[in-house]
Amino acid sequence: MQIVILPTADDVAAYGAELYIKQLTNKPDSVLGLATGSTPLALYRLLIQACQQQRLSFARAKTFNLDEYLGLAGDHPQSYRFFMQQHLFDAIDILPANTAVPDGNATDPFKACQQYEQQITDAGGIDLQLLGLGRNGHIGFNEPSSGLRSRTRVKTLTPATIADNARFFQPGEYQPHLSITMGIGTILDARKVLLLATGANKADAVQAMIEGPLTAACPASALQFHQQAIVVLDEDAAAKL
Ligand code: GLP
Repeated sequence: MQIVILPTADDVAAYGAELYIKQLTNKPDSVLGLATGSTPLALYRLLIQACQQQRLSFARAKTFNLDEYLGLAGDHPQSYRFFMQQHLFDAIDILPANTAVPDGNATDPFKACQQYEQQITDAGGIDLQLLGLGRNGHIGFNEPSSGLRSRTRVKTLTPATIADNARFFQPGEYQPHLSITMGIGTILDARKVLLLATGANKADAVQAMIEGPLTAACPASALQFHQQAIVVLDEDAAAKL
């Protein structure tokens, strides 16, 4: 695990964006793993800018998102598909057919999970997987106690994660308690992993991920196993190391 500590969240986004630009420059048909949440937003803005400046093209790239709420269709404003369209896909030159997000509206979610794994395999595996970090140490929606070799599956969200993500929903609006998420094993299969964490509210999870034991109680600690994992932190997130 390589740890990079930078002064600010903007520096973290810039560092991450350069890694994505380098990846796509070296291999224009890269398979990219993508994440949602507030952390990657600044990075996505930089990728959009790089596309507009013609420093970057996604024309031959394929993407796979980590997770999706189960029970929300892709046109629901709180769905992760909608998030990705709004914050990245609609502003870059990627082919719609080359963007995959788990289907939150699948009639058979268990089959959809297996199909998602197969799609990743058929694409040749993920070259570079982007991750954020939950305050409880989750990656994707792999909540504490997730199997360290788990594959894409339906996961129940913990009350802590539901509370953390309630800020995105209107008061009284239906908020799903279930998700489809790539498993920890799926994430560990990516050839490179880039985890970004910023802000003081991530400091405990960052410490557990890096300095704690390898344990399902902190799913992100599984990255200690990965040969090519880079963790990029701002000083606030790194404060407890
Ligand atoms: C959600 C997502 C995760 C994300 C996490 C942290 O639960 N499923 O993939 O990493 O939130 O979000 P944020 O970046 O907003 O702190």
